[in-house]
Amino acid sequence: MSIQNFLHAKSEGRRLSMVTCYDYTFARLLAKSPVDGILVGDSAAMVMHGHASTLSINVEMMRLHTEAVVHGAAGKFVVADMPFLSFRKGIAAALDTAHILMTAGAHAVKLEGVDGHEDVVQRMVQSGIPVMGHLGMQPQSVHAYGGFRVQGRNGDAARDIVRQAAALEKLGTFAIVLECIPATLAQEITAALRIPTIGIGAGAGCDGQILVLQDLLGMNVDFQPKFSRQFMKGSCAVVDAVARYDEAVKNGTFPSTEESYS
Ligand code: KIV
Repeated sequence: MSIQNFLHAKSEGRRLSMVTCYDYTFARLLAKSPVDGILVGDSAAMVMHGHASTLSINVEMMRLHTEAVVHGAAGKFVVADMPFLSFRKGIAAALDTAHILMTAGAHAVKLEGVDGHEDVVQRMVQSGIPVMGHLGMQPQSVHAYGGFRVQGRNGDAARDIVRQAAALEKLGTFAIVLECIPATLAQEITAALRIPTIGIGAGAGCDGQILVLQDLLGMNVDFQPKFSRQFMKGSCAVVDAVARYDEAVKNGTFPSTEESYS
């Protein structure tokens, strides 16, 4: 997979699938799957580190997660998230972050929004760094929204997202994540763009979809976003397996002779 494949998929009407991943073990499993791309999302802050938002992850943490995923995800197209504010401190600082993530093995970087950092997107694209945009609900703006809220529900807000999507395409991004916006708006943006849209909570009219891996595996014990689907009950499977291990240890059936050295 490459950015050219993303563009071809759109022109050929082929839907794209992406998932997040943050570690080597799951990356090795994803390498055996047919998914088109992996995002080392800054959602690692929440999913892997238990923070309340994505704001707490820094460049060094993103570098470590990216490197681990790249080591396991042989042959997969890997996009790494630019952390909170890392692309808002000028071109040089943004290029330093992108340099770290790309030399950790990412094939592209993703950043939220466009207004106020058009120059950064343009310079990264001109420097040969594939850039993925992210519009709609931008988790790094959670405090400005007053919570994780659906965006673009009224006319002005919707028109503003359409405008930003066109701006990102013009600046040379190869795809745009549309998060938590009405399905009709996502469909309108998708129809207006040459580059693919990758939806999460944006309905079926996008060119592709992305989910957080732990959500689709049903690993989340206490929260299930409306837009997500559990393709397995991972949390039950893990809790059950560990309980059976505990029982086997305590009743003396683990380890067996075959599981012991002579
Ligand atoms: O960090 C992340 O997981 C993301 C997805 C929600 C697209 O940006």
